[in-house]
Amino acid sequence: MFRLLLTALVPLFVLYGVACYRSLQRNIRRARESGFKYVVAPVYFQSMPWILQQEALLPILRRLPKALTRSWLPLSLFFRIWDSGYEPFETIGADTFIVASPGGNVLWTCEPEIIMQLSNRHADFTKPVDMLGILNLYGPTITASEGEEHRKYRKIASPSFNETTHRTVWREAIHQAESMLEAWNRDGGLVSDLNLNANRFTLHVLSKALFNKEMPWDTNAVKAHGHELTYAEAIGAAFKYNHTLFMTPRAVLNHSPLQGHKLAKQAYTEFRRYMEEMVDEQKKAADSGGGLEEGNLLENFVNARQRNDALRIPDAAVFGNLFIFILAGHETSANTMSFALSLLACRPDFQEALRADVEARTDDRDPATWNYPQDYTRLMEGHVGALMSETMRLFTVLPFFPTTNERAQILSVGGVKHVVAPKTLFMINTGAVHRNPKHWSMPDPPSSFQPELWLSGNAPLPGLFIPFAEGFRSCMGSRFARVEFCAAIATICKNYTVMPDGGVGQAALRKAEEQVFSGVGFELGLKLKTPILLRFVSRAS
Ligand code: HEM
Ligand SMILES: *[C@@H]1O[C@H](CO)[C@@H](O)[C@H](O)[C@H]1NC(C)=O
Ligand SMILES: *[C@@H]1O[C@H](CO)[C@@H](O)[C@H](O)[C@H]1NC(C)=O
Ligand SMILES: *[C@@H]1O[C@H](CO)[C@@H](O)[C@H](O)[C@H]1NC(C)=O
Repeated sequence: MFRLLLTALVPLFVLYGVACYRSLQRNIRRARESGFKYVVAPVYFQSMPWILQQEALLPILRRLPKALTRSWLPLSLFFRIWDSGYEPFETIGADTFIVASPGGNVLWTCEPEIIMQLSNRHADFTKPVDMLGILNLYGPTITASEGEEHRKYRKIASPSFNETTHRTVWREAIHQAESMLEAWNRDGGLVSDLNLNANRFTLHVLSKALFNKEMPWDTNAVKAHGHELTYAEAIGAAFKYNHTLFMTPRAVLNHSPLQGHKLAKQAYTEFRRYMEEMVDEQKKAADSGGGLEEGNLLENFVNARQRNDALRIPDAAVFGNLFIFILAGHETSANTMSFALSLLACRPDFQEALRADVEARTDDRDPATWNYPQDYTRLMEGHVGALMSETMRLFTVLPFFPTTNERAQILSVGGVKHVVAPKTLFMINTGAVHRNPKHWSMPDPPSSFQPELWLSGNAPLPGLFIPFAEGFRSCMGSRFARVEFCAAIATICKNYTVMPDGGVGQAALRKAEEQVFSGVGFELGLKLKTPILLRFVSRAS
């Protein structure tokens, strides 16, 4: 029996091996012909089995001689791209190079000239929709679509990111920040889970600005009628079980007896029902004479179902997109806020300067009277803007952005033309762009946090600072995120001092800063996985 199996399997393995070997040879030839430097890797960056197994295999791979893994391993680890920063490029000695593997070629770059070409030639470099397709949990999305379909979603969504909405973001963020501070103060000012609080904050602001859904700070306990989870719990659970939801076929999930699957299914269903309720309410409003004119994001997507022009979309695209806007607009901003507050706590001197700057720029008025866009613009020109830029430079919420090409494409660098073969995966490595010692001053860790860099008013050259990406597929919510961050940080710092619970002596501060830099993880975005314990002390007391 065993021998029979062996005789059947051996030829299969041999065939598989030969096929891999031949595609590797082809991919190496293509990499060489591009004229870019290249290295060879045994695994393909976006192969699903490899993504799922790599964390388990890492201890073994790390025990292999460095010479065998140094050139390819750091940029093959999906969850650790940020961790290796500029180093892989240093090792290879080039800011653009190809990693050739049996499964395909990946061109990694941190070079502004290439980044601008990849970002602006949107007919030539498209999103790898197959790879991004796992995001289509509830239906098609703006993120995992291309061409006409993508343009349609973008056109439907973009009127809702207008100045009226940004004014709502401003007001709501100040209001939510004030309630949040009061709640913290009642609890003695010690915040053990900053991520949780920041997530709640950004969810509340987003829900108000994009769905006109009011969420007072203390609404947590209220479960809507007929629901097993609150709206916030449902969203939290859908994120928590992201792997299960992304990887398990719906048919399996629906019938699986496993506890993990049951909870994931509950999260999925509950979140969907909340979206359905929002959509139903909106439909009723539209039917009772609201008409199809422009409105907030929810209104625009719901109304697009009934349009009789090219912007008409199916129901599934409403749910798919509502989900993706909640995903794109909530954790990203929350994580940026958590990083910023933690860094501020480690730098009392900068924090004091920021507070003085906020007071000067707002004539010491109460946050409730701050207006958009005047106070926003003034604050962002000072320390608050510097804090946000420096936080996003170091902690790139999205450490890499992919594109691909259907046909061979020419990329030019310094006047030299390179022909890149079809179906290459292009990865803009933001984490390396922002920490390239050729372009940024790099003091020894952990002191790489240098907000003062941004106070000179010199803007970085195009392609050197890309936290929201560039060009056609850049972030739709970049202004939204800036307005929200500015309102939150200025409001918090006006009346409160934030400090690490471990104390404010030199050694304690340095230790806290080291913790921020070493506690980083990448899930759906970069986040502070092991938050430092922070204390918010009211200045009135
Ligand atoms: C600090 C906060 C944020 C950061 C750092 C950020 C960053 C980014 C980046 C880098 C991309 C491009 C990704 C890629 O090309 O693969 C992107 C896309 C996107 N972002 Fe953001 N984002 C933030 C907040 C927001 C907010 C608040 C919203 C909405 C309310 C939003 C909505 C979107 C959407 C819809 C896209 C897809 C655009 C498209 O494919 O056409 N983002 N974001
Ligand atoms: C900040 O402090 C001022 C003066 O002490 C007070 O009037 C204001 O209500 C406080 N605001 C917040 C958000 O605590
Ligand atoms: C996504 O799932 C992974 C694996 O279960 C988990 O570790 C992570 O925290 C989840 N992400 C979020 C944003 O909750
Ligand atoms: C701007 O957004 C608001 C919702 O925040 C919406 O009511 C308004 O119609 C939008 N204006 C335009 C011109 O799209």
